[in-house]
Amino acid sequence: MEKISIKFRRTEDRSYEILIGNGILKNIPLDLKEANIAYTYAIITDSRVASLYGKEMLKEFLNSGLKTYLISFPEGEENKNRETKAKIEDEMLSLKMARDSAIVALGGGVVGDLAGFVAATYNRGIPYIQVPTTLVASVDSSIGGKTGVDTVYGKNLIGAFYQPWRVYIDVSTLKTLPKNHIQEGLSEVIKYGVIRDEELFEFLEKYINKVFSLDTEVITYIIKRSCQIKGEVVELDEKESNLRKILNFGHTVGHAIEKLYNFKISHGKAISIGMTIEGKIAVELGLWDKNELNRLISLLKAAGLPTKPTKTLDANDMIKTMKLDKKAREGKIEMVFPERIGQMATINGSYGIKVEDDLIYRILKET
Ligand SMILES: NC(=O)c1ccc[n+]([C@@H]2O[C@H](COP(=O)([O-])OP(=O)(O)OC[C@H]3O[C@@H](n4cnc5c(N)ncnc54)[C@H](O)[C@@H]3O)[C@@H](O)[C@H]2O)c1
Ligand SMILES: [Zn+2]
Repeated sequence: MEKISIKFRRTEDRSYEILIGNGILKNIPLDLKEANIAYTYAIITDSRVASLYGKEMLKEFLNSGLKTYLISFPEGEENKNRETKAKIEDEMLSLKMARDSAIVALGGGVVGDLAGFVAATYNRGIPYIQVPTTLVASVDSSIGGKTGVDTVYGKNLIGAFYQPWRVYIDVSTLKTLPKNHIQEGLSEVIKYGVIRDEELFEFLEKYINKVFSLDTEVITYIIKRSCQIKGEVVELDEKESNLRKILNFGHTVGHAIEKLYNFKISHGKAISIGMTIEGKIAVELGLWDKNELNRLISLLKAAGLPTKPTKTLDANDMIKTMKLDKKAREGKIEMVFPERIGQMATINGSYGIKVEDDLIYRILKET
């Protein structure tokens, strides 16, 4: 037998910048032109964002002399799938877009995940620019490089880690977002405060009303801090071997709630309930102080988010569902817990902490 080894150690710099500002959409074409990152651009967006911002963006790109196409798909999570990905790819291929093309992902998390995944595999990878237009996308999905689509077997099961060339967050686009979508993003922002930033948490306690009135300074601050926190965490642990797990606070229980509600509850609401229940377990384990848990519950309520399920969920079903989750290890459910607001607990250096079924069962019964 002959043996040939191929040495392939990849060290590449995939650093990128996140730019946040009021009315910065119009800067994008000139920046791209100056950086000369591609010859042809596809602005990929959904049907709603296309009419709100996409058509205008296309005009600006064309006026700046950039060869650009606008490609849109029907809005909604149900379209974040392989069929939509294939349609977009076919459209790009029929437009003869080649390796010297780039994608602008304009929209919420659905657009970002899907368009980012198209970019990851189109011609084996072309650059893409994230332009989030929801609070969820601004503080969560546009950072960290997770791209992908849903399947009938589950959400986000097919995808790639693929970092954008740059992220532009124009806070003025949030003005057209319904209030419940602001709450969706806030749920994650509150999470960032608990897991890594006491100051952000206190800021939210003070200025929650100004978040809802979309005060530019307040919104810019919470987006900036959230991006810094998520950015820092994924920088230190891109593939989720330890630290990145802290981003899952509220999500072990939250995901199970989403499943048992057949996804008829929003993600933000589910993780709000999840953070409350996981917080109670942390207190019960002696890791966290009850007064701090109460501060979290008050803040979630002030944000108009639920802290308990609106219908009775069977505790055994919840535990079963959590065990099916990819985060369960050796049959035990693993969670992350705060030790104080702004700091997560570790046991033997590990953020993921295994919890006995009995304890989870008891807390779920009490909730
Ligand atoms: N990649 C990641 O790390 C990551 C993290 C969190 C969430 N996600 C994914 O993100 C998705 C959820 O993102 P989302 O909440 O932004 O949903 P979304 O993209 O479906 O947007 C929600 C709705 O708001 C509309 N919309 C978008 N911008 C608007 C604006 N400025 N004004 C008015 N309407 C607007 C959209 O058309 C859509 O109908 C999920 O698919 C989730 O899996 C990914
Ligand atoms: Zn989440």
